Amino acid sequence: MPKKLFVVGVGPGSPAYMTDVAKEAIRRSRYVVGYRYTLSIIEGVVDRSRQQIYEITMKTQEDVYQDVHRKMKDGEYCTVPFTGDVNFSESEVVDRLLEIFGDDNVEVIPGISSIQVAAAKSHVPTDKTLIVTFHVTGCIEQKKKDLLEAVRQGRSVILLPRPWPADPSKHFMQSEIAKFLRQNGIDTVKLKAWVFERMTTEKETTFKGSVADLEGKEFSDLSALVIDQAKRETYLEF
Ligand SMILES: C[S@@+](CC[C@H](N)C(=O)[O-])C[C@H]1O[C@@H](n2cnc3c(N)ncnc32)[C@H](O)[C@@H]1O
Repeated sequence: MPKKLFVVGVGPGSPAYMTDVAKEAIRRSRYVVGYRYTLSIIEGVVDRSRQQIYEITMKTQEDVYQDVHRKMKDGEYCTVPFTGDVNFSESEVVDRLLEIFGDDNVEVIPGISSIQVAAAKSHVPTDKTLIVTFHVTGCIEQKKKDLLEAVRQGRSVILLPRPWPADPSKHFMQSEIAKFLRQNGIDTVKLKAWVFERMTTEKETTFKGSVADLEGKEFSDLSALVIDQAKRETYLEF
């Protein structure tokens, strides 16, 4: 049997948002490789006396993935846990893991995304909403156009902003987003906004106001923005 990898979504913060399937995959793994925040979510599930746990950063991840893959014996399992859902805003890493392990040896286990929790908190249904992540390293120009188009069409938007403090031209957090919309002709004073920081953790905060209010305000990297243009529509209308 080849070396197997579980790519597991563990929810946005609280272990209570982790599924039983995710916990089972983590427990079956001899190796667990993750970022500090994600490892903290699964701390109660891992057994450090039996499993080898590696904390990685963006800089060290490539070496660690390759090193663990080399160390693994046939039939052994490794888990790489991801915050929220693996299938949202994680593909730059997941695609690399698929290359290293091979698609047939990787099982992806979905989790509850920060996007879903933000939708639940704001009562904005995801099926009537543009869902977009700016939390990527690549170009975001098309995503910015999509955002503008959705707002102009009266759709709601749930998005993950892009923290990039070292390069202001790439930093696209709530304040920059509000400014971008205003400069493109949107009346941001009338546009409702929610910002949810550190959702499902003890440090969770909620901001509710207008998009215009976001200009000049700073929020945590760990935040999601909802632009709320939801119109309630019940089955009684059809
Ligand atoms: C690389 S993306 C990963 C998204 C993740 N896969 C998901 O489904 O939520 C990282 C971003 O997710 C958002 N995020 C993750 N956990 C969060 C939380 N507990 N509260 C607010 N935002 C969160 C933040 O915008 C953070 O910068």
